[in-house]
Amino acid sequence: MDGNGRWARQRGLSRAEGHRQGVKALKPVVKEASRLGIRVLTVFAFSTENWQRPPEEVDALMALLVEFLRSETLELKAEGVLIRTIGAIDDLPPVSLAALHWASQETATQSRMILNLALNYGSRDEIVRAVNRWMAQRHPADEPELTESALTAQLDTVGLPDPDLLIRSSGELRLSNFMLWQCAYAEIYITETLWPDFGPDELRRALDDYRHRQRRFGRIG
Ligand code: FPP
Repeated sequence: MDGNGRWARQRGLSRAEGHRQGVKALKPVVKEASRLGIRVLTVFAFSTENWQRPPEEVDALMALLVEFLRSETLELKAEGVLIRTIGAIDDLPPVSLAALHWASQETATQSRMILNLALNYGSRDEIVRAVNRWMAQRHPADEPELTESALTAQLDTVGLPDPDLLIRSSGELRLSNFMLWQCAYAEIYITETLWPDFGPDELRRALDDYRHRQRRFGRIG
């Protein structure tokens, strides 16, 4: 959900206000994705690197997360949305963690769409945690070497399909430590639109673009 800071700067507003508008933009996009039959929507809400931002910005983001969960969970539940996370969420402030646990328990039986919140998420951190878990759980009788499927089974995304489409708002041309393993064959769509201005129309444009891609997965066409 990139571009909140620039959106705010262009209007002479605080970065926190940009993030507030960013959160506002999220619900209509989630609803539209669900309406269109998307099964999993992951949003990159807070990275392992974002702790390096000024403390007041980090606090504002954590407060917005709690506000979002408290105000939107029941409506999303009514739409059939299950809320889950990826990332090292145990390092989030207790109040954020409590709101996340409540939201995920409350929506646990929903099955129309998964809203996957990437929080304290970094792909490299995820892979290292996965390898460490694999080593800790390994029995002497198991295969001696790590395999792709054994690693996949330890990632935070276990049970989720690899993303088909990666949408990057605000025109940046980089992955920023997002799902490096899982996006091996994701189609990438980049829009100049700053996240607070991203809405259902832009989502439909991205999907329309995706429909015209030829996916070869390393094979010939
Ligand atoms: C990137 O914009 C955005 C973020 C680092 C935070 C996104 C988080 C939220 C919108 C709120 C919390 C999450 C939920 C799920 C409600 P930027 O600050 O890097 O923008 P810039 O590149 O223009 O400065």
